[in-house]
Amino acid sequence: MIRYSANITIMIRAARKASKYIVRDFLELEQLQVSVKGQNDFVTNVDIKVQEIIHSELNKARTDYGFIMEEGQSEKLDAENIWIIDPIDGTLNFMHGLPYFAISIGLRIKQKMAAGIVYNPILNELYWAEEGSGAFLNDKRLRVSGRKNLENSVIALGIPFLGRGNHKKHLKMQSNVMNKVAGLRRFGAASLDLCQVASGRVDGFWEEGLSIWDIAAGTIIVKEAGGIISGIDKNENPLDTGNIIAGNPNVVFALQKVLAS
Ligand code: IPD
Repeated sequence: MIRYSANITIMIRAARKASKYIVRDFLELEQLQVSVKGQNDFVTNVDIKVQEIIHSELNKARTDYGFIMEEGQSEKLDAENIWIIDPIDGTLNFMHGLPYFAISIGLRIKQKMAAGIVYNPILNELYWAEEGSGAFLNDKRLRVSGRKNLENSVIALGIPFLGRGNHKKHLKMQSNVMNKVAGLRRFGAASLDLCQVASGRVDGFWEEGLSIWDIAAGTIIVKEAGGIISGIDKNENPLDTGNIIAGNPNVVFALQKVLAS
């Protein structure tokens, strides 16, 4: 029988409450016949509303914790404990009716990730982890894959898009990796991509230029599933730079080498 800590219980409660609005609006969005601008506004409003619900639930339960959030201002950043929130990671998928997006909530204690949940409300997949307690998908324990070589590995990645990232550099990196792996996958929500690594469904993941709220929760889920997290440059901290590699140690070291070449 799984026992959730008080903080995990609070995080799950907030995510489940907020998810009701996401699911309702996701279904509604499919019916909406509006201009792209109208659709963008609608999605921005969903994002803000969902974040407000999560913020209010967490703040009610832990009045002295700080917040870093995708939509809007950070709060109480000098607090020891900080919630790091992405109300909808994978917004573009959400907008296009693709059911691959998630609420991501991380908890950083004294500058170190201590707990995280990533919840896909459409598939009802709740990934969660707490330092020292393991990582789980609903109540099933997670373990990263044991594949040792890139040639047998499936690697998830992020691809830069209009107005974002260095496309030429990315294409060079992608072509280097393409030549070494069994397959590449671009799913479109970094928090869930990290959970795919934690569950062993994919063997590794890399992306550049992410934000802390995209990856904070996912990093502890990968670590608690026995994986490692690294920067693309060995000396960088992905939570500072947004450049990340995740996987089992063999895959991460191999990817580091190929990406650096
Ligand atoms: C995005 C997703 C996506 C990644 C983008 C992020 P958002 O987050 O994580 O996978 O490629 O760079 O911005 O904007 O949907 O919260």
